[in-house]
Amino acid sequence: MHHFWYPRKELYCENVPVGEIIEKFGTPCYIYSLATLERHYQAFDQAFSSVGHLVCYSVKANSNLAILAALARLGAGADIVSGGELYRAIKAGIPASRIVFSGVGKTEAEIEAALKSDILMFNVESLQELELIGQMASRMGKEARVALRINPDVDPQTHPYISTGLRKNKFGLPLDQALEGYRLAREMPGLSPVGVDCHIGSQITELSPFLDALKRVKEFISQLEEEGIKIRYLDLGGGLGIPYRDETPPHPTYYGQALVKELKGLPYTLILEPGRVIVGNAGILVTRVLYTKDTGEKRFVIVDAGMNDLARPSLYGSYHEIVPVRREERETVVVDVVGPICESGDFLARERPLPEVAPGDLLAVMSAGAYGFVMASNYNSRPRPAEVLVKGDQFYLVRERESYDDLIRGEIIPWEDGHA
Ligand code: LLP
Repeated sequence: MHHFWYPRKELYCENVPVGEIIEKFGTPCYIYSLATLERHYQAFDQAFSSVGHLVCYSVKANSNLAILAALARLGAGADIVSGGELYRAIKAGIPASRIVFSGVGKTEAEIEAALKSDILMFNVESLQELELIGQMASRMGKEARVALRINPDVDPQTHPYISTGLRKNKFGLPLDQALEGYRLAREMPGLSPVGVDCHIGSQITELSPFLDALKRVKEFISQLEEEGIKIRYLDLGGGLGIPYRDETPPHPTYYGQALVKELKGLPYTLILEPGRVIVGNAGILVTRVLYTKDTGEKRFVIVDAGMNDLARPSLYGSYHEIVPVRREERETVVVDVVGPICESGDFLARERPLPEVAPGDLLAVMSAGAYGFVMASNYNSRPRPAEVLVKGDQFYLVRERESYDDLIRGEIIPWEDGHA
């Protein structure tokens, strides 16, 4: 459910015509609906209301400060994977006591910042990382709360690039090594093993991989308990999928019910790290048609947003619905919607039936709120798009479109003024 709709012929975000936003801020432009975001967060949070839990929104999905601040207001925590995400989360008002730090490659500087902030927990992904965190915490006179990320070797049946819980993936530790890690953590003065962590992948549309993973996690926890290691937090990661096209992922309520059923009576606080399911359908990317051409072989619609603005179609072959901002009686034609980047892989849609369009028309790329702007780049020296947040009948610029000056910020010509 989202708040992008056609009260008449024109696409609205909540109570604002999309065209009005574009008149003010131009294209390409990401537009987010606050009501959708809040609704998704609340539905997810509610789904776990019968057990002790903490929803740590996965900042990587969309890290705009306004989005984070909106979630902070609702009581969300954060799942971060870098010092930059820690900085953002804290700036947006998410308390450090609700922040978990995941990721395979945490640097010393990032670990230090997280220890200084006194975050809730490190989700540790290797024995070397564990030792480093322990040594640094001891040196700083602190005790780091840690969970080891176990790799349950479960196939989430999703795109290989976003599947993480198989033994061949770089994530987490196999169970025997994780056990060794917990023994080590128990002995090291700078470490307090308080949780177990697991994340198997993203855009998962079935419940069974989650339940299989949970089963393995529970078995592993029993093993820990046999050794006298008691944990408090059970972090099950993110990964719940959304409908981009005809997928039918379980509603968060069912996801919640299924997990809660397995956990009833157990004394753990459940941590969840949803990203996509909170913000994915709360955002769209609006782009303008520049040209159309028919090569005899194919019809192309060339738009002003490219793979640098929304990488998902090019990178994963992902499907995003594309709709005209103004609905008119037009013939349907099968087209490739392509961007201005000098690569044949620069497309937003291929072989897509769309109402015929003309230069100047606006198109909305749907479900672009997660892994959209955050994955945008400046490739081909293209300034990154503006981001706008809609609340009822108001709209706010929450990130300015980049300027050409932004593009060259920090670059130095060594033989010019004072640098030679
Ligand atoms: N927790 C961890 C440890 C993760 O690695 C991820 C996502 C999440 C939580 C959030 O997962 P979500 O609920 O959003 O599925 N760029 C890709 C997705 C990469 C996901 C990486 N990890 C895409 O556009 O599909």
